Order: sequence, then C-alpha cells, then structure tokens
Amino acid sequence: MTFSDYRTALVTGASTGIGAAVVERLAKQGLEVHAIARDADRLAELADRTGAIAHPLDVTDTPALTALLTDLPIDVLVNNAGVSRTGNILTADEWAIDEQLAVNIGAVLHLLRLVMPGMVARDLGHIINVSSIAAIHNIPGNTIYHATKAAVHKATRQLRMDAAGRRVRVTEICPGRVETEIFGRLTGDMAQAQKDFYDGYESLKPNDIADAIEYAIGTPRHVNISTLEILPTFQVVGGIEFERRGGVD
Ligand SMILES: NC(=O)c1ccc[n+]([C@@H]2O[C@H](COP(=O)([O-])OP(=O)(O)OC[C@H]3O[C@@H](n4cnc5c(N)ncnc54)[C@H](OP(=O)(O)O)[C@@H]3O)[C@@H](O)[C@H]2O)c1
Repeated sequence: MTFSDYRTALVTGASTGIGAAVVERLAKQGLEVHAIARDADRLAELADRTGAIAHPLDVTDTPALTALLTDLPIDVLVNNAGVSRTGNILTADEWAIDEQLAVNIGAVLHLLRLVMPGMVARDLGHIINVSSIAAIHNIPGNTIYHATKAAVHKATRQLRMDAAGRRVRVTEICPGRVETEIFGRLTGDMAQAQKDFYDGYESLKPNDIADAIEYAIGTPRHVNISTLEILPTFQVVGGIEFERRGGVD
C-alpha cells in the first residue's frame, strides 16, 4: 500500500456522485481530503460525514484555485468534476461548448499546473484524471463532451513524460455508465433521467469507481496504473455505420 506515502488529497466535483464516493474512500484511508464543488450545503454535509475539508468554489474560477493551492501541497489530485451537455456539433449551443471546455479540460489543466510542480519537486504524488469511455470510443451524440474527454485522455498520457524520472504516478479512469446525477443535469429532469438511463439497467455505482481509484493509489510505489476502462457488464461499445445510398457507380 502506498496510501501511507501520502498525506493530502484534493478531489473536484465532490458534492455528489463519483467525487463524493472518492472523498469518503480517501478519508477512510487516512488522507486529509480537500473537497471542491459549488454546492456549499452538500459539501458541508460531506465534511461532517467524512472529515473532509470543504472548499465551495467553481473549478473554472482560476484565481480561487490559485489562492487555495498557493500554500497547500497536494499529494493526490483527483480531477473528477465534469459536465455533459446534450447535442452534437450540429445542435450544440454556445454555452455547451464554453462550459464543457472550461470545466472538463480547462480546469483540469489549471489544477495540474498548480499542483503538479509541487509533486515533482517533492518527488511524490499521484494524479487521477476521470475521463470517460467517450475519451477513447465514439458514441453518437455529445460531440463536445467526447472532444473534451479525449483531451483529458491525451493530456494524462503526456503528464507521464512531464514527470519522467520523478515518483509521480498518473492514472486515467475511463468509466462507462455510472448511476449519478450526470444525465439528470444534462436533461434538467432528474426523475425522467433516472427512468431513461438507469431504471432496469445494471449500471456502475460511484463506489465501483472509488474501488478502482483506491486500487490504483494502493499499488506498490513502483507500479503506475496508467488507464482503467470500467464498464457495466451489460454495456458494450463498438460498431460501425455504413449508409447505403442509391445512384453511386
Ligand atoms: N456518470 C457517468 O455515467 C460517467 C461516465 C463517464 C465519465 N463520467 C465522469 O465522471 C465525473 C464525475 O461525474 P458524475 O457522474 O459523478 O457526475 P455528477 O453526479 O453530475 O456530479 C458532478 C460533480 O461535478 C461538480 N461540478 C460540476 N461543475 C462544476 C464546476 N463548475 N465547479 C465545481 N464543481 C463542479 C458537481 O458539483 P456542484 O454542482 O456542487 O458544483 C458534482 O459534484 C465527470 O468528469 C464525468 O464526466 C461519468
């Protein structure tokens, strides 16, 4: 186990879903966990329950992140906050592009910029980036989400070179469907999203992803788990479309 090497962790998107489960798990492992999300009430409840330290802020607020991290060395960074919006490139509105770029990749890069040099200097750290199966597979719809998560995928692999020769580990987690609020936030109707995306499906639970992250961190310090792709057993990706059209020689 290498949890004993680490003292502090920072988890974004901590107010619910995967992030909240990860905060709980890392706190149980004895880390001082700093939890970021916008919903102050939910973070306060999480802090009461787990002993985590709540930081109610928006991950796109770079000055706030900078102020928080100036004198706070982080050993384990879990870049988990993410948003998904409906629409492919033909139907997406301006906000869908701007928000997903800012949250899904902009904030991830800023947090890495703020946290990783300290890890490299201390020769100690673990970065966990939560991307998606959309980072590596093409699934119709949500084109901007795919683009931002693919950027996280590529950046994650690049970080291994940025930290070459230092004991800084980097792990990408690519989940398939997990039962959280993500689809309800996407459509604006939590109850309907529950019916459409989760009822009758055997989806992953946030704790399944927390298990994977706990595993990656807990491997011996000479082991770097680079990528974990985790799907529900009954969710399968793959396929190809080929439209037949008349009038072609
Ligand atoms: N659920 C899935 O099926 C699935 C599949 C693949 C990948 N993922 C990825 O897993 C990660 C976690 O998703 P989830 O399913 O747990 O989603 P979720 O239930 O919708 O939770 C999203 C979390 O992100 C936070 N967040 C969103 N925008 C933020 C912002 N601007 N600043 C700070 N925090 C922000 C939310 O908190 P506040 O609203 O309080 O700020 C919330 O805590 C995301 O990166 C997502 O893309 C999820």
